[in-house]
Amino acid sequence: MAKITYIQSEGQQHVLEVASGTTLMAAAVANGVPGIVAECGGSAMCATCHIYVDSEWESKLPPMNAVEDEMLDSVADERRTSSRLSCQVTVTPELDGLVVHLPGIQS
Ligand code: FES
Repeated sequence: MAKITYIQSEGQQHVLEVASGTTLMAAAVANGVPGIVAECGGSAMCATCHIYVDSEWESKLPPMNAVEDEMLDSVADERRTSSRLSCQVTVTPELDGLVVHLPGIQS
């Protein structure tokens, strides 16, 4: 398990205990965290599960693959260096304490 904090663009926080092997997207959707649309269900084909990884954690996440990188060019809000697709980040014990920020718009 890992404690993950999702912070919405207006500042509201949602703290979840997420099982290892679960993606950040799936955990958010299963727990009703607003702001993750995930239209494609986690196939890296919609870019509506966009998140910004907190600056303290940016370097601690596994690197993105080429598909995620390309899809991030299609996000509705601004793409930043901290941008990731939450369906492509799988929770591990090492991510305990991770903080992610949700963009203002997803589509
Ligand atoms: S859920 Fe569609 S790209 Fe992540």
